[in-house]
Formats: sequence, C-alpha cells, structure tokens
Amino acid sequence: MSKIIILGGAGFLGMNCVRYFREAGHTVWAFDNLVRRGSELNLPEFRRLGVEFFHGDVRNKEDFVTLPKGVDFVLDCSAQPSAIDGYNNPTFDLTNNTYGLVNALEFARERGAGFLFCSTNRVYSADRVNAFATKEEETRWVWDASRIPPTRGFDPVRGYSQEFDVDGGAHSVYGLSKICADLICQEWARAFDVPTVVNRFGVLAGPGQFGKCAQGWVAWWAIAAHFDFPLQYIGWKGKQVRDILFAEDACRLFELEMKNIGAVKGQVFNAGGGAENTLSLLEATALVNELTGKKMTPGLAPEPRTADFQIWVSDYRKATDALGWRPQIDLRTGYQSIVEWVRREESALRGLYAS
Ligand SMILES: NC(=O)c1ccc[n+]([C@@H]2O[C@H](COP(=O)([O-])OP(=O)(O)OC[C@H]3O[C@@H](n4cnc5c(N)ncnc54)[C@H](O)[C@@H]3O)[C@@H](O)[C@H]2O)c1
Repeated sequence: MSKIIILGGAGFLGMNCVRYFREAGHTVWAFDNLVRRGSELNLPEFRRLGVEFFHGDVRNKEDFVTLPKGVDFVLDCSAQPSAIDGYNNPTFDLTNNTYGLVNALEFARERGAGFLFCSTNRVYSADRVNAFATKEEETRWVWDASRIPPTRGFDPVRGYSQEFDVDGGAHSVYGLSKICADLICQEWARAFDVPTVVNRFGVLAGPGQFGKCAQGWVAWWAIAAHFDFPLQYIGWKGKQVRDILFAEDACRLFELEMKNIGAVKGQVFNAGGGAENTLSLLEATALVNELTGKKMTPGLAPEPRTADFQIWVSDYRKATDALGWRPQIDLRTGYQSIVEWVRREESALRGLYAS
C-alpha cells in the first residue's frame, strides 16, 4: 500500500482519485486551496473516507511544510483548468500552473516521492491540430484520410499521440501554462531524478465535475439538462469531436503508473477515451436528451473559440504498450453515471448554480 498526497484533491479529478485510492486501501491526504467553485462541497466526503485535508496553495512553499514526511507519491491534480478563463488573467494561469508546480516538484524531491502530473491535449497547437483535411457528416466532422499526408504523431483513425509536434501556432494561455508545466516535469525527472510521469489528457468527465460553460462541458451538458439552463454550441456547427475519458479510468492509469514507476519515470503519455469513445456536441445533446428525457436544443454561435480544436482524439497506444492500460468505461455508461450524480446531488448543485 502507498502513501499518496493528492494536490487539487478537492477538485473533480482529485476527489475521484482520493476516493479511488482510499477505497483501494492506500493512505491518502488531500491538499487544495478550494479556489474551484464547488470543491468545498467535497470536504464532508474527506471526513467520511478518513482522509486528512490540508487547506493550502501550491504557490506557497510554506504550505507544504506541514504535510506528512513519509510520502510515496504526489499526484498533482491542482490547476486553473479552463482554456477560456485563462484569457481573463494570464498572469494567474501562468503562476498558478507553473510556479505552483515547481513548489510541488521540489516537495516531491525532498520527500523522495514519485510525481504524477495531469497535463492536457492543449499543449498541442490548435493550428497544427486543425491543419488536417476534414469532411462534414450529419452529426460530426471526420478526418478525410485520403487527403492527409503521413504525419508524425497523427493517425487519421487513432488520433494524436505524444509524438505530435507541440510547437507553432496558437495554444491558448491555459495550454501555454500547461506545456511549460509539462516540460518542467520532464526536466525534473532528468535534472533531479524525480520520478515524474506526464499524462496529457483529452476531455475528462465523470460524477463530481462542477462543469461550467468554460470548462467541464460533459457534466455541464447534464447539469444544464437537469435545471433547464440554456446551452450554446460555440463554432464548428456543434459538430466538433472529442474523445472522453471517465475519471475512474484515469485513476486506473495512475495506479498502473505507480506500480510501474521504475519503467515509466520520465515518460509522457497521451491518454483519453480514444477513437472508440468520441462524441460531437450535437451527439452529446442527443445522448443527454435520451438519458434525461429532456428536449434541449442548444443555440449556435458561428465562430469557434480562440485556439479551439475541430477534432481531438487521443491515441493512447503507448500507455497500452507500456502498462496494459486502456479505457474501460464506455460513453453511455459514463454519461449515465453523471446524469445519476446530478439527480442525487440536486439540492447542492441547485445552490451552487443558482448563485
Ligand atoms: N477536466 C478536464 O477535462 C481536463 C482535461 C485535461 C487535463 N486536465 C487537468 O487535470 C487536472 C484536474 O482538473 P479538474 O478538471 O479536476 O479541475 P478542477 O478545477 O475540478 O480541480 C482542480 C483543483 O485544484 C485546486 N487548485 C487550483 N489552484 C490551486 C492552488 N494554487 N493550490 C491548491 N489547489 C489549487 C482547485 O481548487 C480545484 O479543487 C488539472 O491539472 C487540469 O489541467 C483536466
């Protein structure tokens, strides 16, 4: 059994990890500054699980001082995770997502702990991602393989692997902060021998995600359906495509990385739901309508968001080869669990979204 500190442990992915590793019998501590709206609702769950909570900020070195001494792994799920909000306050994104990370890595180095990092597909340039020929189908855009030349790190069926070029074009401020952080993690493995692993996730989803228009759209769709909030497709006619990875599958990946840290330290993995778990926004609406019995008809804003992707699919085959990992939760099962969570947590969510 391992001793694990989860940074951002009160957030969506962090809380899912807290529960997953605690229920598997590990010793778990959670650390969070509760900046994400809704994260405070998870505090009673820490008590139920017997998880000690540290209210701290990764940007403050001194907040790490009181954390326990014997730590096997630091799992870093803390960040400002919205590609949209990043434009409002770039200084915040860049300091929060990079300087905070350096403190966390130094903490792991001092404690001799492994370090698992949540990076993102936003480290790739939207201009490069959107450069491939597409064709329009009734509910989604698809790649037009016949018009796509062979490209390193891209396969028109499996999507983008970690070999895809991160340089050039628009990344979003959030993406910029994460590519810096991603490289910092890789450097700490080489320069200071901290066993880091970088996971570049596509869209993550699952129960416990306090989704909003600017981040966490999969849960946001289910929340909007439940409370009859208006929705809007932003660009690409609502036919933009993403692969969806459910939080429990991400936890399984972290678990395998911990077990095999000697083999995967210093490595980078693209991880997502993959080609078998893709959804366009139009298709998400149809699925949520079916699961909830609602009849949502989102409006359409013609222009896509800055540095947004038309199609993203994570080619996760490196993680399969190295760790035997592949997603196990299919779209329908995963979405159903979100819809049920929204129903179960109705009164807490009503309070959160009404204000
Ligand atoms: N959700 C996704 O679709 C997605 C996709 C790719 C990568 N990621 C990455 O996964 C990680 C987890 O994302 P999430 O969706 O759970 O986000 P989240 O906002 O739900 O959780 C992040 C948590 O970190 C905390 N936090 C933020 N800044 C902090 C600081 N300075 N000190 C301490 N705590 C701080 C927040 O309060 C929050 O509880 C992030 O690194 C994000 O960039 C998320």
